[in-house]
Amino acid sequence: MVPVHRATRPHPQARGHAGPFPLCGPPSDRGCRRRADRAGLRLRRPVPSAPGRACLHRRHAGGPGTDGEFHRPGRRHHRTKPTASEGNSTVTHNEDQAAGAAAAAPAPAADIGRIVQIAFGGMAAQTLRAALRLRVVELIGDKEKDAADVAALASAQPQPMTRLLRAMTALGLLEERAPGTFAVTSTGALLDPGRPGALTSFVRMFTEPMMLRSWEQLDDSVRTGDIAFDKIHGTDFFGHLKDNPELSAAFNGAMGEAVRQTASVLPHAVDFSRFSTVMDIGGGDGTLLSGVLGAHPALTGVVYDTEEGLAQAPGTLRRNGVADRCSLVAGDFFRSVPEGADLHLMKSIVHDWPDERVVTILRNCRAALPSGGRVLIVEPVLPEVVDPETAGLTYLSDLNMLVNVGGRERTRAEFEDLCHRAGLTVTSVTPLAGARPFHAVEAAVDE
Ligand SMILES: C[S@@+](CC[C@H](N)C(=O)[O-])C[C@H]1O[C@@H](n2cnc3c(N)ncnc32)[C@H](O)[C@@H]1O
Repeated sequence: MVPVHRATRPHPQARGHAGPFPLCGPPSDRGCRRRADRAGLRLRRPVPSAPGRACLHRRHAGGPGTDGEFHRPGRRHHRTKPTASEGNSTVTHNEDQAAGAAAAAPAPAADIGRIVQIAFGGMAAQTLRAALRLRVVELIGDKEKDAADVAALASAQPQPMTRLLRAMTALGLLEERAPGTFAVTSTGALLDPGRPGALTSFVRMFTEPMMLRSWEQLDDSVRTGDIAFDKIHGTDFFGHLKDNPELSAAFNGAMGEAVRQTASVLPHAVDFSRFSTVMDIGGGDGTLLSGVLGAHPALTGVVYDTEEGLAQAPGTLRRNGVADRCSLVAGDFFRSVPEGADLHLMKSIVHDWPDERVVTILRNCRAALPSGGRVLIVEPVLPEVVDPETAGLTYLSDLNMLVNVGGRERTRAEFEDLCHRAGLTVTSVTPLAGARPFHAVEAAVDE
């Protein structure tokens, strides 16, 4: 049986044959050669008669065959196990036949582009990381600057710096206003730690070898269910942070940056006037609680976290003008949760842990809450079936939880089940428009 390509709906995120570095695209590679020239990159000319050479262009020999494999010269494909419908005949096809089939039915350019884009994703992330480490955006500043000047300021080589700046331009972080002269875009400005809304700690943490090494073992985690991080480091993620205060501060900073959007949306999406004291369990640097207290002056607050988790909280609460209404309590939510609040807020906590451990945290909340108390879980809520239109990066976050901490993203039914096991009942699930993919899952204490 000859492998059949099924016609599929193009993926909503497929945008033609345009990866981060669109090197080639049908019907000819001339356009991409021009684009590559403009970007200072040299393309090797593909040799059509040499199957197996690394060229991503489907029309050039050596691209993926119709069965998704790379066909190599001299390699013959024998299938000696007949299927029932083939009876006892032996199917043998050689390289030429496969190449012919490939030429007759090239994969859609959008499909190739999507694969290239995904495969290049790690390179785009490392481009961000290098830009941050070289302080490129800070060095360019508010005005346009020549690559040679940026290189001198960064103690770097001019030609490689030009190439970095051009790659950043291709990624939308810079604009090249004249050959070799660059300015920062509004997206790129988020790589300047001095600008409001910067995401520098976030970029640092999510491109950190500590996290990425676990991703290299994703297949092992899928096979075994094991947490790759724990196998690599001999301790769990939060234990590792405890032993590395500098990384821990970067992590707290990254979480503080990531939660800003939710901190501006959540206070207006939920009726906080029903409560008098909000405790943010695992509240980290206090950014989220600052948003809630800032919008609701009658509320008082508590940030409950480990000592290392709270290290940056005093500064955040002070800067946000809510320190006088907010206290800090250090502790372990697996052991207990302090009494005194009628609302327990938990953002990006439940997804860090496997079911049994979540139930322990929720039971500790349940034990500390008064009658009428509520728990507000802020997490993505997965649909029962993946919706590619709205999925965004949630399923990558889910895999990140698998390899790094052993947690997971969950559906509404799964949140309901966990709450039920802890003596809580989910009363509402509110999508946080403006802070997608987050939802506020509210649960009441079972009386
Ligand atoms: C993913 S971060 C979320 C931080 C914050 N809620 C946010 O969304 O920005 C998880 C938080 O849980 C805290 N944490 C981890 N283990 C804990 C424990 N056993 N007891 C209390 N807090 C803990 C961490 O220190 C960290 O601040």
